[in-house]
Amino acid sequence: MELPRGLVQPIHGASTLADRMRLLRQKPLTIWLTGLPGAGKSTIASELERQLVSQGLACYVLDGDSIRHGLGSDLDFSQQGRHENIRRVAHVAQLMNDAGLIVITALISPMQADRAMARDIVGAGNFIETYLSAPFAICARRDPKGLYAKALAGEIASFTGVSAPYEVPLDPDLVIDTATLTPSESVADIVAYLRENCLALLA
Ligand code: ADX
Repeated sequence: MELPRGLVQPIHGASTLADRMRLLRQKPLTIWLTGLPGAGKSTIASELERQLVSQGLACYVLDGDSIRHGLGSDLDFSQQGRHENIRRVAHVAQLMNDAGLIVITALISPMQADRAMARDIVGAGNFIETYLSAPFAICARRDPKGLYAKALAGEIASFTGVSAPYEVPLDPDLVIDTATLTPSESVADIVAYLRENCLALLA
C-alpha cells in the first residue's frame, strides 16, 4: 500500500553518519554475496565476519536462511517472494550501514534486476556485489543441506539452479571462484579486495 504523498517524511536524528563513522572508526559497506545454493555464501559470510570483527571492525551477517525465519517468514520462493525478500534485506542493510555497520549479506538473489534494486536501495557507493562462482554440477555434488537431491527428485518446487533460474551477475564488483578456492582462500581474496578498494575501511 502506497503512503499518502507528503504525509510521512523521514526524520533525521541529532547525530549523523559522520559522527557514527568517527565513533566506530570505519566506513560502512554492504558486501552482497550472491550465488547458487551450495556456492559457499553462508560459510564465507560467517568466516568473513569473524575475520573483520577480529580486526576491530563492527559487522553483521544477514543470511537468507536466518532471515526467512523472521523478517521474511511470510515469503515463498516465487519470483515475487524472492523480490520482496531481497527488497527487505536491502533496506535492513541500508539502515545498518546508516548505523555505521559493515553488512555482509548471504542471499541467493538470483535475478539481475533484484540485485540492481538492492544496489539502488543500499546506495551504489556502499555496495559490493560479490559473485561466488561455482558451476551447478559442483554445487549439486556438495549439496550441504540435501536440497539439490530433493529438488532433482521433484520434491521441492522452484529450486534455484534446478527448477528456478539463476542469472549470473553481468558486472559484479568481485568474482570469487569457489569451485577452486577453499573458503579461507575465498575470504582472503575478499579481504584483499576490501583493503585495496576501501582503504578507509581497514585503516
Ligand atoms: S533468495 O532467492 O530469496 O535470495 P534466500 O537466500 O533467501 O533466497 O534463501 C535460500 C535458502 O533457502 C537456501 O539456502 C535453501 O536452504 C533454502 N531454500 C528452500 N527452498 C528453496 C528454493 N525453492 N530455492 C532456493 N533455496 C531454497
